[in-house]
Amino acid sequence: MAGVGAWLPPRVVTNDDLARHLDTSDEWIRSRTGIARRHLVDPGTATAILATEAGVMALKSAGCGDVDSVIVATTTPERLCPATAPQVAARLGLAGIAAHDVSAVCTGFLYGLATAAGQIATGVAERVLLIGAEAFSTIINPADRETAVIFGDGAGAVVLRAGAADEPGAVGPCVLGSDGDLSDLIMVPAGGSGQRASGLAAHPDDYYFQMRGRDVYRHAVERTTEAAGAALERAGWRAEDVDRLVPHQANARICAAIAERLGIPPERQASNIERVGNTAAASIPLLLTEDSARGRLVRGDRVLLAAFGGGLTWGAATLTWPELGTVASNMPGLGDQPVGVG
Ligand code: UT7
Repeated sequence: MAGVGAWLPPRVVTNDDLARHLDTSDEWIRSRTGIARRHLVDPGTATAILATEAGVMALKSAGCGDVDSVIVATTTPERLCPATAPQVAARLGLAGIAAHDVSAVCTGFLYGLATAAGQIATGVAERVLLIGAEAFSTIINPADRETAVIFGDGAGAVVLRAGAADEPGAVGPCVLGSDGDLSDLIMVPAGGSGQRASGLAAHPDDYYFQMRGRDVYRHAVERTTEAAGAALERAGWRAEDVDRLVPHQANARICAAIAERLGIPPERQASNIERVGNTAAASIPLLLTEDSARGRLVRGDRVLLAAFGGGLTWGAATLTWPELGTVASNMPGLGDQPVGVG
């Protein structure tokens, strides 16, 4: 890993803002999810813009102008067809290179990480720009209080490059899994080939994201903990070796339960859900950017990434933290932060 960057849309929406048109409250949202506010896109801003902005930041952090491949992990592609990544590559002035999307909902960044590592290992690319980008609010039913309060928009990106397995920044084992028998727990029912967009869906709400939150919760804790444990085992690390747990920000209670089961104390857990909500595929690279800029991730730190999402999908990976000269973002309170590490 050679660079990190992030970009959040400027508009901030608080829990009280949502409670003005939804039957909910700041108290319920904070206590059940840990979320206080989120950043949402304005109409006209979609995933390619978020992804490009984050990509620019990560390239700046890595100190390089180009890469050989762009991977965009997203739940909210610009269009059903084609993928968003080629558009992002072109916006970055990199038309001609390999570019494709990864679709694994909130686990997308980890599926993308494994894909990027594979491209490097097979010689497809020397350097890969991996972006997790979500304009999640574009698929949320504004009248559905069970999902509208949870998700936020944003993008985070990393640059990966070929390197030695023992140098800081090396990505360790990646563990991935899925269970399609539970695909109905998190879905947008209509608009795909299963319920075609030609003609009307059975119900207008079928074009929106739907989630059976309580069922997802249980699977999220169990599967993420298992995947994280398997990644630790393959890396030959114990829980006490982990300097930073960076879990997908599904829900603060889910993250706390996973950390507790793994035996990783709160002070070693990365968290941003209070400020940005659940940003799906963007949550892990947003956390990496923020923690690096704040000096909570320093050269040589042993990092455990873990995520869970629709599919169902889940995954975990280890890495050691690299020495980064600059961490670039527009995140409030962070700006472009040169970090003195090492
Ligand atoms: O990102 C990866 C995939 N996503 C996740 O992993 C999310 C997993 N699930 C969750 O985070 C939680 O299940 C939720 C945050 C979605 C819901 O929290 P919960 O503690 O599981 O609540 P619940 O679904 O059991 O609902 C409790 C009550 C219900 O009312 P009754 O039936 O007890 O009267 C809901 O109707 O809370 C009600 N409720 C709300 N009340 C106020 C649900 N949403 C809201 C709301 N405001 N926004």
